Order: sequence, then C-alpha cells, then structure tokens
Amino acid sequence: MQQAKAFLTTREAEETVHIGELLGMFINRPLVVALDGDLGTGKTVFVRGAARGLGVEGEQVASPTFVLLKIYRGRLPVHHFDFYRLSEEDDFYELGFEEYLPGEGAAFIEWAGRLPHLLPPEYLQVVLERMEDEQGEGRRIWFVPFGLEASRVVESLFGAVTWRTNGSLHRQQPRDIML
Ligand SMILES: Nc1ncnc2c1ncn2[C@@H]1O[C@H](COP(=O)(O)OP(=O)(O)OP(=O)(O)O)[C@@H](O)[C@H]1O
Ligand SMILES: [Mg+2]
Repeated sequence: MQQAKAFLTTREAEETVHIGELLGMFINRPLVVALDGDLGTGKTVFVRGAARGLGVEGEQVASPTFVLLKIYRGRLPVHHFDFYRLSEEDDFYELGFEEYLPGEGAAFIEWAGRLPHLLPPEYLQVVLERMEDEQGEGRRIWFVPFGLEASRVVESLFGAVTWRTNGSLHRQQPRDIML
C-alpha cells in the first residue's frame, strides 16, 4: 500500500548527495529503493549520497549502466542496479539477481519503472524531476513509500533534513505532503 508521498527540492548536485546521504543513514534494515526520473536528473548522484550514508567508503559510485549491478560494502551491503539496458525480466532472473530484491542489504535500482514487476511489494520509490522557479533550476525529489519500513525511513529523513539558506543550515520548509 502506498503511504503519504512528499518531496524535497534541491538546487545543486551536492544537495541531492546530502539528501541521499541522510536517507542512507536511516537505512538499517534491508530495503529496496526504486529510482525513477529522466536521463540526467540525478539518480546516480542520489545513490552516491545514499552509499555514503550507509557507510560505503573510498569508492566512487557511478552508474552501473553497462554492468547492471555494482556491490559496495557498507554497514549493510549496497546493491546498485541500473535497469536502463535491461529489456527482459528473464535476463534478470537468469543472472540470479532476484535474490537481492529484497536481499540482506539496501538495493538501489535506477530506471526501476522499466521493469516494475521485478519490484517486491514493499519498497521506497524515489522520483527525480527537473524543476524551475523564480530561484532558478533544481530537482524535485519525490519520496513514495510502499510499506512500513519505507515509511519509517522517509519519516526519519524528513525529521532530520536541514537546509542551507544564506550560508546557514535550516530545517527544510517547502515540504509538501499529500495523503
Ligand atoms: N539538484 C541537482 N541534483 C542532482 N544532480 C544535479 C542537480 N543539479 C544539477 N545536477 C547535475 O545533473 C547530473 C545528474 O547526473 P546523474 O548521472 O546522477 O543522473 P541520472 O539520473 O543517474 O542519469 P542516467 O539516467 O543517465 O543514469 C549531474 O551532472 C549533476 O551535476
Ligand atoms: Mg544514472
């Protein structure tokens, strides 16, 4: 079941890393995170932060577009998928990847919407979209939790997020929750 969805707005890549990192810090049980959004909206940038929050050190997280899966060692194992080039669900099963969804760690799936049937019933959907307003360009990052664990993680994130305004950190204000 889908719970409340909410968004945060980021104005530069480093802010998206920051949001991803906060989210990663609150993941302490296996969780599948499905990332959607157009090319270049920041899915990989977000996972880079999340991996950091999960304690992955010293490795540069990059798009696993051609290798389909990269595994990083953090507090929990981090599985980073990219479904962009995966056209058939069968390929996925042949590779034996379904054991990771969910597995013993955190799984991040770029372009998850391409093969929605591979997702478990409970997961966190993160959707990135380009936006522009009077302050300039940015990204809107939507959090759509399916299941209690995903909701808990999103709630923790929104409780902890701080924002830089005029050089100082503030709690994020522009928060939109829809039931
Ligand atoms: N607010 C922002 N958040 C994230 N990235 C941003 C932001 N503003 C600009 N960028 C830029 O957008 C690009 C996002 O690239 P990234 O590889 O993360 O996208 P992606 O969604 O993973 O793309 P792909 O679909 O090709 O995998 C980077 O070059 C980053 O610097
Ligand atoms: Mg990417």
